[in-house]
Amino acid sequence: MFDSLPGFREFLPDSCGVRNTIFNVLRSTAERYNFLEYDAPLLEPLELYIEKSGPEIVSQLFNFEDKGGRAVALRPEMTPTLARLVGARANSMKRPIKWFSIVENFRYEKPQKGRTRSFYQYNADILGDASPGADAELILLLIASLKRFGLNETDFVVRLSDRQMWVAFLKSWDLSDTAVAEVLGIVDKMQRVERQVTLEKLGKCVSEPEALLSDIEKLIQVRSIDALESFLAATDYKFSERLEDLRILVQRLSAAGMDGFVQLDFGIVRGLAYYTGFVYEAFERSGESRALAGGGRYDELVKKMGGPDLPAAGFAMGDVTLRDCLEEKGLIGPSTPEPSVYMVVGGEAEMAACLKDVTRLREQGFRVEYPFKPAGFGKQFKNAEKSGAKYAVVYGEDEIKSGALTVKVLASGDSVTVPRDTLIRWLSDQGVRDL
Ligand code: HAM
Repeated sequence: MFDSLPGFREFLPDSCGVRNTIFNVLRSTAERYNFLEYDAPLLEPLELYIEKSGPEIVSQLFNFEDKGGRAVALRPEMTPTLARLVGARANSMKRPIKWFSIVENFRYEKPQKGRTRSFYQYNADILGDASPGADAELILLLIASLKRFGLNETDFVVRLSDRQMWVAFLKSWDLSDTAVAEVLGIVDKMQRVERQVTLEKLGKCVSEPEALLSDIEKLIQVRSIDALESFLAATDYKFSERLEDLRILVQRLSAAGMDGFVQLDFGIVRGLAYYTGFVYEAFERSGESRALAGGGRYDELVKKMGGPDLPAAGFAMGDVTLRDCLEEKGLIGPSTPEPSVYMVVGGEAEMAACLKDVTRLREQGFRVEYPFKPAGFGKQFKNAEKSGAKYAVVYGEDEIKSGALTVKVLASGDSVTVPRDTLIRWLSDQGVRDL
């Protein structure tokens, strides 16, 4: 037998049911927030990700040359595709553009808990609005999406930070654009490595790594706007306008009653290269789990793709960490749907009447099963029980002649007689309605 590739998942019906339940909840939440669903190709020109996503993602690409000699890559994330897609049509679109997608992505990462090589992402983005109100709307959707599964503020937190302030702070250390990007990459990883390792890495970018690191450590400790204001007052960065945007964002989240879900935390910088403003990640409060979701503002990406100057922001939530979290908390479990009705058929002569009714019932939304090859009644009743059906409906010679069907309630073993032409009404009266 062949095995699947490392880090690639298979979804047998039980597991596929869980996946679909998750997708349905996410989809319906995005729709409540009036986001429209879109989709796009899974295979893209390699160039789309080079420089746009940053070195980390590029090193994780599944890429190859197609038969036409084109350099192509499996999509590692949706954002560059979205920026291209909207950028090409933005001038004729109503703004703000609020779109979501649920798509599979591929990254050649080391498979481990919370990390696979193929995973789904629920992406939600707003393009065409540069205000903190749009960032607030996205964070509210992110929180609402997790709350719909029964998670609350004791379960998860959205750690909120700002790339713009990070860049300004690092520039106050006279760092070049390249050095700023390098230091942000180091900060992104610093909570997972020894202090000494961070210090050595910073030493390659600045002459006083210890002083920079202790300043970075102070910024990372900041947990309120007031504390941030005091920290920034010590730098020469003109921060008042930016602080105002942050205040508006935080006030919006608070007005919606969601402040308990959000924590200002400059430990978040985000690994992707294109972020330009507020950034955030959602984490389980307990444990060391990887992020449930991450996102932020990327106002320059659409233009870099050759499109117009279009502000943009968004987030993506991965299905792997989300599912682990929901399963660990018992908020979701395997579910294989069962038929409501199982037809028990006397023989080939009764099959026509049975199939006629099966078809009518299915058209009305009942989940119905019947034997492809009629066997003895005893065996069929056993199969009906095994199938998990609530009712077994008997199509014997007598039933068809008299037009009165015998319906066995499988849980109790009781039988009732139901006129054949009222079967649908009778089942509806019992509260059966599947799809
Ligand atoms: P990201 O932080 O790279 O952001 O990924 C977002 C989420 O996708 C992560 O928090 C995690 O849940 C999931 N994820 C990422 N890589 C893997 C993996 N190898 N295995 C399992 N899950 C994974 C982005 O992708 C941005 N494009 C998000 C965004 C949308 N920004 C603006 N709009």
